Amino acid sequence: MAQYPRFSQTSLDFSDSAVSDTASAPALADTDPKIPLCNGADMVDGGDAIPFDVVYAGQTCRAFAIRFDGKPQAYLNRCTHVAMEMDYQPNKFYDLTGQWLICATHGALYQPDTGRCAGGPCRGGLVKIQLSEFDGVVHWHTAYNLKALSF
Ligand code: FES
Repeated sequence: MAQYPRFSQTSLDFSDSAVSDTASAPALADTDPKIPLCNGADMVDGGDAIPFDVVYAGQTCRAFAIRFDGKPQAYLNRCTHVAMEMDYQPNKFYDLTGQWLICATHGALYQPDTGRCAGGPCRGGLVKIQLSEFDGVVHWHTAYNLKALSF
């Protein structure tokens, strides 16, 4: 069971000067394929994540997509404190407020829209995966170091 950190939202400083880390997104090229992930209606603000697998820097990794403030976002499912998957139950990443992504192991908090560390023991931001939503479908974008699994 996740141990929730005792942060109040007002104690967190999100000014740029306070954020020494930034979520890293693989560089994109127009030719990078967009891979259908799910129907947009399957992603609900504050709801369960959509899991998927990617090959990041040559390693197979779990990833997840969530909707926050109406926009789909996706990240590698890998905490920056210790490289562990973060969900406390399958596909559960939001804390009780629905405003933060929380790592189940030690309670690191991340901003859902950027992946930046928002509190707790995180060391940098989550690895962001570019998404796009059109024709009612959410797609994830490959990049030079982010590929689809091949079977
Ligand atoms: S592994 Fe995520 S907070 Fe420690």
